[in-house]
Amino acid sequence: TGQTSVIAVSDPAALAKAAADRITARIVANGGRVAICMSGGSSPKQLFELLATDTYRSRIPWDRVHWFIGDERFVPADNPLNNMRMARQAFLDKCAPPANVHPILTDTADAEEAARRYESELKSFYGADRLDSTRPLFDVVLLGVGPDGHTASLFPEYPAVEETQRWVIEVPKAHVEPFVPRVTLTLPTLASCREMMFEASGAGKRAILTRVLDGEDMPATRARSQGETVWLLDKAALPENFRA
Ligand code: 6PG
Repeated sequence: TGQTSVIAVSDPAALAKAAADRITARIVANGGRVAICMSGGSSPKQLFELLATDTYRSRIPWDRVHWFIGDERFVPADNPLNNMRMARQAFLDKCAPPANVHPILTDTADAEEAARRYESELKSFYGADRLDSTRPLFDVVLLGVGPDGHTASLFPEYPAVEETQRWVIEVPKAHVEPFVPRVTLTLPTLASCREMMFEASGAGKRAILTRVLDGEDMPATRARSQGETVWLLDKAALPENFRA
């Protein structure tokens, strides 16, 4: 695993801009097919909306960028809790060719089937059944952190956190709201990226960030890129010992 850094900015608007700039830089740096894995939850909304504005929209070569999701709630695609629905509404429906959008489909019998289907989709996109450390699956993996130290739908002490074989796995019941089954990429899959970027803002995140950045063993701490890992935080979320 590579380097981890903390970047602090003033507020959520600056956070969205910093994230958009980093993502755009990664896209431009890769002259070929690009894969971005997005996070769920509410944190990425401003970033997504920013990507649809002229400044970013005109800089992104949409035809060669593919959009995946790191975890999904097992609800229909048009349910307000659906993570990909938020991303679609915020920017993908306006900007991305439909074939470049890769949702976790939830019209399956159960979350396990949804997980297996997404695993097959990722493997076929990658062109191999095993992740090769010299060739990351994703250019950027975006993540958020929950109050219990979860990231994606990897909750503390759940078996999914220990999974090393599966690329994508079902989680029968979430540890936090909404209490619906989840489908999540596993830690080795999330790690297969050039850059992993956590986004967190607001005073409500400060307590958990203090624990995570202190190195306490939690899913959000275990999630590390094989390349670069960045914690993008706003001032309100920044733990005490990182304040100037
Ligand atoms: C989800 C997530 C989850 C999220 C964190 C932070 O599906 O809920 O992917 O891991 O990123 O819970 O959520 P907020 O951004 O809403 O604080």
